[in-house]
Amino acid sequence: MKIIGTGSSSPSLTVSNDMLATFLDTSDEWIQTRTGIKTRQVISTERLEDLAAQACSIAIHEAGIKAEDLDYIICSNTLNEYVTPALSCILQGMLGADCPCIDLNGACAGFIYALDMADALFERGNMEHILVVCAEEPTRMVDWTKRDTCVLFGDGAGAVVLGKGEGFKSFKLSTFSNTEALYQIRKLQDTPFIKREETEGNDALVMKGQDVFKLAVNCSLNDIKDVLKLAGVKADEIDHYLLHQANMRILDTIMRYLGQSEKNFPHNIERYGNTSSASIPMLLDELNKNNKLKTGQKLVFSAFGAGFTTGACLLEWTM
Ligand code: COA
Repeated sequence: MKIIGTGSSSPSLTVSNDMLATFLDTSDEWIQTRTGIKTRQVISTERLEDLAAQACSIAIHEAGIKAEDLDYIICSNTLNEYVTPALSCILQGMLGADCPCIDLNGACAGFIYALDMADALFERGNMEHILVVCAEEPTRMVDWTKRDTCVLFGDGAGAVVLGKGEGFKSFKLSTFSNTEALYQIRKLQDTPFIKREETEGNDALVMKGQDVFKLAVNCSLNDIKDVLKLAGVKADEIDHYLLHQANMRILDTIMRYLGQSEKNFPHNIERYGNTSSASIPMLLDELNKNNKLKTGQKLVFSAFGAGFTTGACLLEWTM
């Protein structure tokens, strides 16, 4: 398969570090030094499905197809207002598509997992166009009184339309079960048959920052090395490494270990924060729209997230 269209959308409200410092014990200096984040776009008046539909429409338009031409929609989403139906089902109606739809929750690595599923669907042979959309509102998962998590995130959506082709060269996915380092527990309805302690569920995101940092660097490096090896490509031959935008220091560490330079590690974390699985397709769309991607260039995507889920893929840009 190959990418034939990209799109992205983000909420209108820009929240600066200084704005956060008005209600949290934090500072612009701390946040920028430890994370690289300057501002993030945060959902206020928008709904996530509107952002997602906009990102999809842009990608569909660029692909030169109509929503009715889609054979499958895969939506990567960790949390939204609907427990059911799936966000992809809602998007199908908004876009006017009529294909099967499914959501997956691969946390921040969801884009790579969705691409891998799309690749398998193309292998089946009866698909022409698959839409992968990542739509996330992590700012509604965090406790806004907790400075160690809420400063890190932003909201947004990124989408790609995939068509038949030879763009993708290799994939690597890994999952290591870990419910300690990064998790969120949702309180379910009480029943007459379940009596649990009130304290058992914490409804905001919990994160052991330093553990996640180490896992992220190690897993991402292994995945990248594996996709390079599988594709028979050297690290120096990659034009753009698009990494999950979680922390600038994570990106810098991986860049140094791979012996690469800054120009090959594009980033927009400074303007968006961590938008979970939407971060790579949003960055991809930004590079695409700014004509930074040239036909034949080699790209690596690499992401990691709660699960612990990690994944990478290597592709040649064909647009
Ligand atoms: N502002 C000011 N101080 C803060 C702060 C904030 N927003 N958040 C935490 N601190 C404080 C801590 O309370 C701690 O204070 P103490 O030393 O008095 O206890 C101090 O800063 C250092 O905290 P620490 O957790 O050691 O900082 P760190 O250098 O590890 O940076 C993260 C914290 C979260 C930025 C970093 O660990 C990280 O980015 N981890 C990966 C997170 C991630 O990628 N998550 C998403 C995965 S998909």
